[in-house]
Amino acid sequence: MTGTGSVPNVLQARGLTKHYGHVVAMDGCDFDLRPGEILAVIGDNGAGKSTLIKSLTGAVVPDSGTLSLDGEQVQFRSPLDARRAGIETVYQELGVAPALDISQNLYLGREQRRKGLLGTVFRQLDKRAMRHGSAQHMADLGIRIQSIGQKAETLSGGQRQAVAVARVAAWATRVVVMDEPTAALGVRETNQVLDLIVRVRERGLPVVLISHNMPNVFQVADRVHIHRLGRRIALVDPRSTSMEEAVALMTGARSPEPADTPDPLPAPSTGPAATPSTKGTQ
Ligand SMILES: Nc1ncnc2c1ncn2[C@@H]1O[C@H](COP(=O)(O)OP(=O)(O)OP(=O)(O)O)[C@@H](O)[C@H]1O
Ligand SMILES: [Mg+2]
Repeated sequence: MTGTGSVPNVLQARGLTKHYGHVVAMDGCDFDLRPGEILAVIGDNGAGKSTLIKSLTGAVVPDSGTLSLDGEQVQFRSPLDARRAGIETVYQELGVAPALDISQNLYLGREQRRKGLLGTVFRQLDKRAMRHGSAQHMADLGIRIQSIGQKAETLSGGQRQAVAVARVAAWATRVVVMDEPTAALGVRETNQVLDLIVRVRERGLPVVLISHNMPNVFQVADRVHIHRLGRRIALVDPRSTSMEEAVALMTGARSPEPADTPDPLPAPSTGPAATPSTKGTQ
């Protein structure tokens, strides 16, 4: 059984492994994302967070382990596979294409052609429709940008990241994944992106948020997946686990106990559920 009661987890992984030569990037990693939640993934540099996220989104094919979407087992061989399944990702350091404008970024890879022969034969783009769609979408998300025709390279870091988030929110139908979306941002811009992430959740999409910024994580996350040495070592509720405790688990200063992963499987009803994945601590 998976998820809360009879509702399956949107995305679930069991026992993922990935080796790069002698480097073990993932070592029996589990993952659970519930419908409508913001799940933060935290862990030290090199813990394997990006590798996990890439495995969930088709950019890395794991050596072993299983992945399921809405309770159905899936295998993503490429990012396109995951996108077709409704999973959209902002990868670390790959937010937007600088030379393209906002509208072109939003429609990148999904350009709308003009109607009739101009579109089908001459492959002309329907720029007006895309600009209109982009402006509408940005407004829906409450993102204020002066001109939809502005090149991404002329935007501030925060605005650029807002465009990257808007893009994934525009196309995702099942899951939005963001690897360090606020890494290079100031306080105000970070808060704007966090607000945007909350708005994406309010539209019903679950969000996976990888971040090193603990205050950010504790500000918006419904649950926190703690990653260490290539696997999830705990899955905690930020309302009952402090930032200090989470950091102690993440760095290995404290060993996880079964209670640190109260309910990766069925509902938050009874006591701690010891699962095979949470017994081992190292
Ligand atoms: N393509 C690759 N080739 C070789 N080693 C890799 C590759 N990708 C990741 N690794 C290694 O796997 C481990 C996990 O890397 P990963 O990028 O997943 O960590 P991370 O938790 O995302 O780190 P950070 O917080 O710095 O982003 C690291 O030791 C890294 O060097
Ligand atoms: Mg990373």
